[in-house]
Amino acid sequence: MASVTVEAPAKLNLTLDVLGKREDGYHEMKMVMQSVSLADTLTLEQTPGEGIALFSNLSFLPTDGRNLAVVAAREFEKAAGCKMGHLEIRIQKRIPVCAGTAGGSSDAAAVLRGLNELIGRRFSLVQLAGIGRGVGSDVPYCVLGGTALAEGRGELITPLPQLPACWVVMAKPGFSISTPELFAQFDGKKTRCRPNTEGVLTALEGGDLGGVARRMFNVFEEVLPFRKRERVEELKCLLLDHGALGACMTGTGPTVFGLFSEEAAAWEAYQELKNHCRDTFLTQALGSQN
Ligand code: C5P
Repeated sequence: MASVTVEAPAKLNLTLDVLGKREDGYHEMKMVMQSVSLADTLTLEQTPGEGIALFSNLSFLPTDGRNLAVVAAREFEKAAGCKMGHLEIRIQKRIPVCAGTAGGSSDAAAVLRGLNELIGRRFSLVQLAGIGRGVGSDVPYCVLGGTALAEGRGELITPLPQLPACWVVMAKPGFSISTPELFAQFDGKKTRCRPNTEGVLTALEGGDLGGVARRMFNVFEEVLPFRKRERVEELKCLLLDHGALGACMTGTGPTVFGLFSEEAAAWEAYQELKNHCRDTFLTQALGSQN
């Protein structure tokens, strides 16, 4: 019996831009991604037999092929050309679900990294990211982690200079947003503001945390329904009032986050935001996997 434990970090969008609609129905994206230390923990256990059994501490999570972790295990077996025997995947969820933080994609990426460990690291991380493309748009980024530019559907990844060390406060308001619906809203409206992605890349090159934080922007914030947008704005203002260098919504939301250079200010903001959102976290930016 072999087993391995793997961390699955949450992802944030420092920028999110939608460049247009593609012929395959997806959208062309340009996003600067960042992983943080808030993470799910996965244990993979390989025993004789066959089949995949998934367990998690959240009873409402699907445990069959609707869970990306299961899809990832099947894609891995296909790519490796071997069966992994009976595989038990146990997920300790900490990343909030349907929050714009790629929790499901990160679990899938962790399954790919974990299974690769179990077969003696046959694949490089770049090859694993390639396998992840067949699982979901965010999975290749989640395999690599750190600070990276994501283009195409989100699956074309270019590593970037690491975001300078910082504290991150994340808060998920108590409503959810449908990803396909938000893309449809985006198509129906003319967006006025776009992120200055080049400016963020330059700030990263210069190790300028404030320069990155000031330029963070997500085009989906503009197309949120009025009340949800108001709530997101309110949380961003709270973060900025408590010393965040910048604040932004991540992915298709609704999680909002702020970057802090000082732990004390981040701690105060965390205490305040906890009064507004049950799902509030104090976490730190992470480097890439290796
Ligand atoms: O790739 P993933 O399954 O995460 O995408 C979920 C949904 O989000 C897609 O079915 C599509 O409606 C939308 N999407 C998109 N363009 C992207 C990524 C996602 O339209 N680049």
